[in-house]
Amino acid sequence: MARIHFKPEKVTHEIEDGTPLIDICEEVSTSLSFGCTEGTCGVCELTVISGSKNLSITTEEEKDYLLPEDLQSGMRLGCQLKIRKGDVSITWKNNKT
Ligand code: FES
Repeated sequence: MARIHFKPEKVTHEIEDGTPLIDICEEVSTSLSFGCTEGTCGVCELTVISGSKNLSITTEEEKDYLLPEDLQSGMRLGCQLKIRKGDVSITWKNNKT
């Protein structure tokens, strides 16, 4: 069982290991938006606050869309993410507060 915390909404969801973030967001109320769902539009950009090692590895789409410094600072594309295990905390785009 994994847990994902959405900081902007101050809510934590328990999920099966390996669940795609987009599936979680379809089932729960969240203000994270999705567009293309294929890693090309950037609508789903988010920032990982903690637990990045518990996420799926960076996809080619994320490497193409995000700048290296963005990736380094914890930005990911939500449509590309799976929560592999453990605890993960995310916020939307550059909003780390
Ligand atoms: S929804 Fe378009 S990049 Fe994620």
